Amino acid sequence: MKLWGGRFTKETNQLVHNFNESISFDQKFYKQDIAGSIAHVTMLAKQGILSEEDRDAIISGLNSIRQDLDSGALAITTESEDIHSFVEAELIARIGEAGKRLHTGRSRNDQVALDMRLYVRDEIDELDHLLKDLLKELLSLMEEHLHTYMPGFTHLQKAQPVTLAHHLGAYYEMFRRDKSRLQDVRKRMNYCPLGSGALAGTTYPLDRNYTAELLGFDGPTLNSMDSVSDRDYVIELLSALSMISMHLGRFSEEIIIWNSNEYQFVEMDDSYSTGSSIMPQKKNPDIAELIRGKSGRVYGALISMLTVMKGIPLAYDKDLQEDKELTFDAIDTVKGCLLLFTGMISTMTFRKEIMEESAKKGFTNATDAADYLVNHGVPFRDAHGIIGQLVLLCIEKKKSLDELTLEEYHSVSPVFQEDIYEAISLKTCVEKRVTIGAPGADAMKEVIAVYKKELEE
Ligand code: ARG
Repeated sequence: MKLWGGRFTKETNQLVHNFNESISFDQKFYKQDIAGSIAHVTMLAKQGILSEEDRDAIISGLNSIRQDLDSGALAITTESEDIHSFVEAELIARIGEAGKRLHTGRSRNDQVALDMRLYVRDEIDELDHLLKDLLKELLSLMEEHLHTYMPGFTHLQKAQPVTLAHHLGAYYEMFRRDKSRLQDVRKRMNYCPLGSGALAGTTYPLDRNYTAELLGFDGPTLNSMDSVSDRDYVIELLSALSMISMHLGRFSEEIIIWNSNEYQFVEMDDSYSTGSSIMPQKKNPDIAELIRGKSGRVYGALISMLTVMKGIPLAYDKDLQEDKELTFDAIDTVKGCLLLFTGMISTMTFRKEIMEESAKKGFTNATDAADYLVNHGVPFRDAHGIIGQLVLLCIEKKKSLDELTLEEYHSVSPVFQEDIYEAISLKTCVEKRVTIGAPGADAMKEVIAVYKKELEE
């Protein structure tokens, strides 16, 4: 059924219908569409625009449609143009005359603006849960690995020793910001466009505050032309999703490196790995690679949506229909990535001994050795030079700094004493770094306490 057949004398060309329809994808928000309609008629009846009998008939009709869609008893077909037409036609088929009053004081323009907002808001809440699960998993790994030493890197070259807890904590911070970014988006978008009509409001005495309240919004939007054509919040969401993808990509990249035969810092669980059709020895980190790769389509959605919006004159234009597939795909992709990523890291084995061995090799304690000299009165620049010479000596003798004899130390500087060994042990290097944000366990415990409290809220 068409909602707008009256002024037309010809049938729509089939290709036009196919190109124009959105029901093949906007059926995804039938629940939101029905919830919005129920709020709308509840308000219409309160305002005396619709009788209570009609309201009741419409609401029970809509509820029965929703139940049948939920159970699969009612199938959505692509003959309707969009989900709004489908639900309205089905309602009229079920309850007759009263159904024809549903669309009083409403346009599909404010209806779709509402549905999309409701859908995005619900999905933000789901994303929030998934991020919270990831944060919880990270937090428990951090508590477990407060004293798991590993090399920290710059330029992918060993730099200074850190702990696994500290390394994971860096990602904790990223995902923590992502979570609060989503909340920012939610807060800013949580205003109700329903009642904006096609673009210029309506002449009915609608109570927009009431509808907004019924649907859990902080209030109605304040300009009807903007309301039907604003998709800023979609772009904000896509930007926040892109950021999540970027963080997941960085983390996945590290896990792929850590899982390589060369590093062996971690081992993927068999249940999260895949094999090769030809090479029998292979166990590949496909899930991490896919998560890294999926950032492409999420960024793509962001750029596409910015481009869709850039030339849209006020108010509603059909270009806006393009928001849906992009947004749905980006949301589903990121939800999948978060779920799989959390599963992957919670089943993965961290090989503590190999990490610690790696931190011992590669002179990650060289800065601490220089600091030792500084503490004995040597200017830092000179200390840097002395340790540089010792590193050369180590390379020549195939030793690490803590394997040099005191005589060898003295061959470069007389300042070194027996306590140098204690000063440059991995344990000292890490545990002495207790300024806020540093890897020492005492500092990390304080940070973890902050995170725990935050997660409980
Ligand atoms: N499917 C449309 C969309 O997604 C619904 C709004 C249609 N409004 C219109 N004036 N044709 O934007």
